[in-house]
Amino acid sequence: QELKMNLEQIEKGGYDHFMLKEIYEQPSVIKDTYRGRLLANEGIIRMAGIEDNLEKFLNADRIIIVACGTSWHAGLVAEYIFEEFTRVPVEVEYASEFRYRNPIIGPKDVVIAISQSGETADTMAAIKLAKEKGAFVFGVCNVVGSSISRETHAGAYTHAGPEIGVASTKAFTTQITVLTMIALRLAKAKGTLSNTDYHMYLQELELIPEKVKEALGTNDIAKEIAATFIDAPNCLYLGRGYNFPVALEGALKLKEISYIHAEGYPAAEMKHGPIALIDEQMPVVVIAPRKGHYDKIVSNIQEIKSRSGRIIAVVTKGDTEVRKLADFVIEIPETSDALSPLLTTIPLQLLSYHIAVMRECNVDQPRNLAKSVTVE
Ligand code: G6P
Repeated sequence: QELKMNLEQIEKGGYDHFMLKEIYEQPSVIKDTYRGRLLANEGIIRMAGIEDNLEKFLNADRIIIVACGTSWHAGLVAEYIFEEFTRVPVEVEYASEFRYRNPIIGPKDVVIAISQSGETADTMAAIKLAKEKGAFVFGVCNVVGSSISRETHAGAYTHAGPEIGVASTKAFTTQITVLTMIALRLAKAKGTLSNTDYHMYLQELELIPEKVKEALGTNDIAKEIAATFIDAPNCLYLGRGYNFPVALEGALKLKEISYIHAEGYPAAEMKHGPIALIDEQMPVVVIAPRKGHYDKIVSNIQEIKSRSGRIIAVVTKGDTEVRKLADFVIEIPETSDALSPLLTTIPLQLLSYHIAVMRECNVDQPRNLAKSVTVE
């Protein structure tokens, strides 16, 4: 027993939980994800699975992304990125819905299946169905040699290393990294991004690990904020554009491990429902980086403020406007709008982690959840 405990201690690498270790691994695993694939100075993105099947991607009328859970959120981020960079229409589907609704899909469609474990039953069934209907299926998996990585026609691994914590963290950011690289590669082939933008994104992507490291510096403030919200029964997460899926993911992280009811919403949808919930008890996490609908989100924050909601804002370093309105601000480094989810998601992971620890929840193995859902 003692030996087993010591072993686990070693595996956690000095961290109290696997989840925290995995959060902190993100700068290095994101680098692992793009190593050898992203050559920013030469302006090259090179991924074998894409190069070998480039025509299929270029001829696709649309891309359908299927996934579950956190991987589905990565898919939503990818939808925004793919459409902006490549101008190809993208649909993101819960694998469980897709598989049961006789989807309209054919040989001109490309399906991207995203799965950390590569074993999720619903995602696997969606892949088989898409293949039967003649679509080309590309996998984005973390676990090498997993069932989904074998069932798909081609794929790209995320190289995040083993993820033990049930709540997914580094798998999410590496999935976004891979999908961003794919979108950039296709944009280059299609000529849908200007040369300047293409090179800017490559350079920016290469800077992300350093910026994630800096974003991890929000740990102390996340802990301080966590302490004030441990008894909150509910929490609302709002974001717009690229950061709308980050709001969903932030809410999922909180409910998964702390059992606090949390909902993510596109900030502008707040007025169609969630605003009714806002009072002085309600923490509202707003993702408000400077690039991307900033003025709109500032006015959303004003609406929350005037209803006495308690605002926790994730902002770009040096922000002054949101600071005047928010109860707490968490500063992250500046990057382009499209890449911001890789940074904005970091403090939200830390916030959930600390709230869960303070509530004495089993962070790595939350009740009723499994790391890999191999049954329906
Ligand atoms: C489970 C896990 C989640 C994960 C989801 C999809 O619910 O607890 O963390 O996002 O399955 O898993 P996959 O391995 O397909 O990404």
